[in-house]
Amino acid sequence: MFEPLTQRRYLLSFKAARLPQQVADVIVIGGGVAGLRAAIASAEAGADVLVMTKDTLDESNTWYAQGGIAAVLQPLDSFEAHIRDTEVVGVGLCDEAAVKLVVEEGAARVIELLQWGANFDRQSGNAYDLAYGLEGGHSFARILHAYGDATGRELAQTLIGKAHSNDLIRISERTFAIDLITHEGNCVGVLALIGGQVQVIWARRTILASGGAGQLYRESTNPKIATADGHAMAYRAGARVQDMEFVQFHPTTLYVAGASRALITEAVRGEGAHLIDRNGDRFMNDYHPDGELAPRDVVSRAIVEQIRKTFFTHVFLDVRHLDAGKFRARFPQLARLVDEFEIDMSTDPIPIHPAMHYMIGGVDADEYGRTSLPGLYAVGEASCSGLHGANRLASNSLLEGLVYGARAGTDAAAEARKVTTSFPLQLEHSVAPSSKTELDIADVRNSLRSVMWRNVGIERDGERLTETREIIAFWSRYVMDKTFNPKEIAAAAIAGWELQNMLTACYLITTAALSRTESRGAHFRTDFPDRDDKHWRLHLLWGRPTETPIPEPID
Ligand code: FAD
Ligand code: SIN
Repeated sequence: MFEPLTQRRYLLSFKAARLPQQVADVIVIGGGVAGLRAAIASAEAGADVLVMTKDTLDESNTWYAQGGIAAVLQPLDSFEAHIRDTEVVGVGLCDEAAVKLVVEEGAARVIELLQWGANFDRQSGNAYDLAYGLEGGHSFARILHAYGDATGRELAQTLIGKAHSNDLIRISERTFAIDLITHEGNCVGVLALIGGQVQVIWARRTILASGGAGQLYRESTNPKIATADGHAMAYRAGARVQDMEFVQFHPTTLYVAGASRALITEAVRGEGAHLIDRNGDRFMNDYHPDGELAPRDVVSRAIVEQIRKTFFTHVFLDVRHLDAGKFRARFPQLARLVDEFEIDMSTDPIPIHPAMHYMIGGVDADEYGRTSLPGLYAVGEASCSGLHGANRLASNSLLEGLVYGARAGTDAAAEARKVTTSFPLQLEHSVAPSSKTELDIADVRNSLRSVMWRNVGIERDGERLTETREIIAFWSRYVMDKTFNPKEIAAAAIAGWELQNMLTACYLITTAALSRTESRGAHFRTDFPDRDDKHWRLHLLWGRPTETPIPEPID
C-alpha cells in the first residue's frame, strides 16, 4: 500500500554526464544554526565548503527563534541540573551521552559566539553581566537572549558574518536540494536546482542541516521552508530515521482569525504571564504543579482540554498584572505583533492557541552527526541525536545545532581528506512516466496539512491514525509517481517536490505514531493515555525497504 513512498529512490530522472557539475569537499544543505556552524567548522579544518539554502539565509527556523539559548554559564547553575531538566522533560527516551555532550560542550559553543560578537542581552552595561531568562522545564534561569525576543536573528547574523569571512565557504541561496546521490552504498553528493537548472554537486562528505517540518501541519510556528525535505531525502537515500512520532506543539501562538500562527515566546510565561480561559480563570495549576511553567507538552494538552471544557476556540495569555513598560522593552517583537492587531496588552488578554513547533524525530545521528548512510551527516532539527528523547526542553535546540554542527563539520572535513573517489561519476536514473490522473498540488498540500493537524496532532488515536495512513497512501499513488520539470516553471517543480517530501514525512510520522501504543512526552494517544515503560522504553527506527519499525531498546 505504501510502495510509492517506500520504494521511490529519486524524485527525478537524470544522467549526471549531461548536467552541469561541481565538486566540493563538504556540502552543507541548510543555512540555519546547525548548517552554518558545521560549515564554519569544516572550513576551519581546511575543507572547501558549499552551503545551500532553499530560500534566503534569513528564512530558517533559526532566524525566527525568540526565547533564547540555554547554557550553563553561572556559578550557581550546574551541568547536572541542566542534564536533569533535559532528561525529565525527555521522559525516559533521552540518550544520556548526547545530553551530557550537548550540555557540557554547549557552554563552550555559546562563549565562542560571544567572542564572535553575538550581542546577548545584559542586565547592566557590563559586558560580563549577561541577562538570563527562565522557561518551562528549566530549574534555573539559564536562557540567554538577544534584543529581548530576537535571539535567533542575532545568532544567525553572527554565524553568517563568521561564514562570510572565510574564503573556503561558498553560500548558494535559493538553491533547492532535490535528492542525495548515492553510489555503492555511500552518499556522494546532491542533485540541486540552482538558478532554474538541475545540477550535480559531488561531495566527499554531505551534511544535512535542512531543519524542521512545521509545514506538515495546518497550524505551525515554522516558516514556509520547513517542509521536511531533509527527512524525506535521507529516507529515500537509505538513511535510518528515528522517533518520528514525537512532534512538539508550542502552547502559545497568537490566535487571530486570518493571521498566521505567530509564536509568543515561552519566556513571556517565564516573566510571569498567566494562562486564563474565556471565564478569566487561571487554569494551569489544575493540570501541573509547575503551572504555566510546566513542560510544553503538558501546557499544550491542558490548553486543548480547557478549550474543550469551556466550549471555546482558544484561551488567553494574560500580562495585565505586569509592568507594561518593562514588558514591552523585554519583548519588543511581541509588542509590535499585538500592536498590529490592535490588542492592548495592558487592558486585554492575548488570544492564543497551540501550534506545531518542532520536529523531535529525524535522521538517526551519532555523536559526530554521522548517519547510518556512509558519507552523510545530519545535524540540527533534521537529525535525531537522542538529546530530546520524547520531548524537547525549551531553548535546547539552538544549543544542539551549535554543538553537533561544530562536531560534524570538523569530522566531515577530516573524513573528506580520506576519500579517494574521483569525480565525476557516470551515474544515471530513470523514473517511468506516470499514467495516472494529475492531482492539484496546492489542494493536496492544504488537505494534507489539515488532516495532520486534526488526526496526528496534540492528541492522537488508533482509528484516526489508521484513517490518516489510508489517506496518505491514496494521495501518494497520484503524487509519488509524478516527475516535475523545473524547465517549465521552477516554482511549480519545487512545490511538487516539496509535496512528495511532505507525504513521505507524514507517512513516517503517522506510522510511528500508530505503532507507539502508549503516551509519552509529546506523543499522546487518547486510546493509550498511560506511559508504558515495560514495553515502550525504546526508539522506533525506520529504514527502507521495510514498512515496519526496527525497535531499539534503551539500555
Ligand atoms: P533551520 O534553522 O530551520 O535551517 C534550515 C535550513 O535548511 C534553511 O536554511 C533552509 O533553507 C534549508 N533547507 C531546507 N530544505 C532545503 C532544501 N530542500 N534545499 C536546500 N536547503 C534547504 N529553539 C531554541 O533553542 N530557542 C528558541 O528560542 C527557539 N525559538 C523558536 C521560535 C520559532 C518561531 C521557531 C520556528 C523555532 C524556535 N526554536 C527555538 C527552534 C529552533 O529555532 C530550531 O529548531 C533550530 O533553529 C533549527 O536549526 P537548523 O539549523 O536545524 O534548521
Ligand atoms: C520560545 O521562545 O518559546 C521557543 C523556545 C524554544 O522553542 O526552544
